[in-house]
Amino acid sequence: MSIVVTGASGQLGRLTVEALLDRGVPAPDIVATSRDVARIKEFADRGVVVRRADFADPDSLEAAFEGADKLLLISTTTVDERVANHRRAIDAAVAAGVSLVAYTSMAHADTATTILAATHRATEEYLRRRAVPSVLLRNSWYLENYTGQLPLVLNSGSVAGAAGQGRISAAARADYAEAAAVVLTTEGHAGKVYELGGDEAFTLAGLATAISAATGRQITYTHLPADEFAHALTGAGLPAELAHVLADADLGMSRGELFTASGDLRRLIGHPTTPLADAIAEALR
Ligand SMILES: NC(=O)c1ccc[n+]([C@@H]2O[C@H](COP(=O)([O-])OP(=O)(O)OC[C@H]3O[C@@H](n4cnc5c(N)ncnc54)[C@H](OP(=O)(O)O)[C@@H]3O)[C@@H](O)[C@H]2O)c1
Repeated sequence: MSIVVTGASGQLGRLTVEALLDRGVPAPDIVATSRDVARIKEFADRGVVVRRADFADPDSLEAAFEGADKLLLISTTTVDERVANHRRAIDAAVAAGVSLVAYTSMAHADTATTILAATHRATEEYLRRRAVPSVLLRNSWYLENYTGQLPLVLNSGSVAGAAGQGRISAAARADYAEAAAVVLTTEGHAGKVYELGGDEAFTLAGLATAISAATGRQITYTHLPADEFAHALTGAGLPAELAHVLADADLGMSRGELFTASGDLRRLIGHPTTPLADAIAEALR
């Protein structure tokens, strides 16, 4: 009766495996997967079962998901390959006879209009089409998307974005991971849709204010039209396609598509979510 975590080499996947162990799941009952098991050797060293799974390679998935009871499908990185990858993973989960697929979707995936949301909506639709018991973990943005940029922000004195006055319910990856671990280790989640986000939504201007408060520096928010923001991102070294997707995500934020007041994350984890100020302080340490 094992719990499979795909993408266990990634930042969210690692935290989820840790959260499962923290909740007392025996290491041999957890299967961590990656396209390269060397990346998750530290889990193997601690008794977690480690298997190779590449969503582009269906043959690898049959062996990887064998004996799985519940499976956390962590969405993959490459946006244009994502839906086909996820369909192969869902097919393999169905073939393995899992009792539950938990899928890390995106806030308001059913109605949001961004490029990213479309890939999650298509995956959610495929889960329904395959009629596999599933739970949707519709994650908002990661706080780390912003705290990871602090050196750049401090260097330029400005948070740049195209999100206008949109409020963003960003939360720490560790909180999303804990929620995933709760869903994988407790009953009653099949068929549920959780809109997961931080307790305290903020605008990018609010983010700039919070960084100012934490550093004593005067940080401002510079709102840019989406095409100028994408241009700035490519100038900072991002591939053009990714810059376009991120600028499009900011436009979604300006329409409130990454805001939720559901309280689902706080309820699932049973404690308040990580405050923005704490995440900034931690990143500055
Ligand atoms: N909510 C947000 O703000 C936000 C931001 C960025 C991304 N995301 C989404 O959330 C996911 C998890 O976030 P993260 O921070 O943990 O990302 P990450 O650190 O980049 O990890 C991505 C994971 O996807 C796995 N992966 C990529 N291609 C795969 C394939 N073909 N088959 C199987 N696994 C594959 C990688 O595993 P290997 O390379 O080891 O196989 C890796 O473990 C991302 O992949 C993305 O879909 C959300």
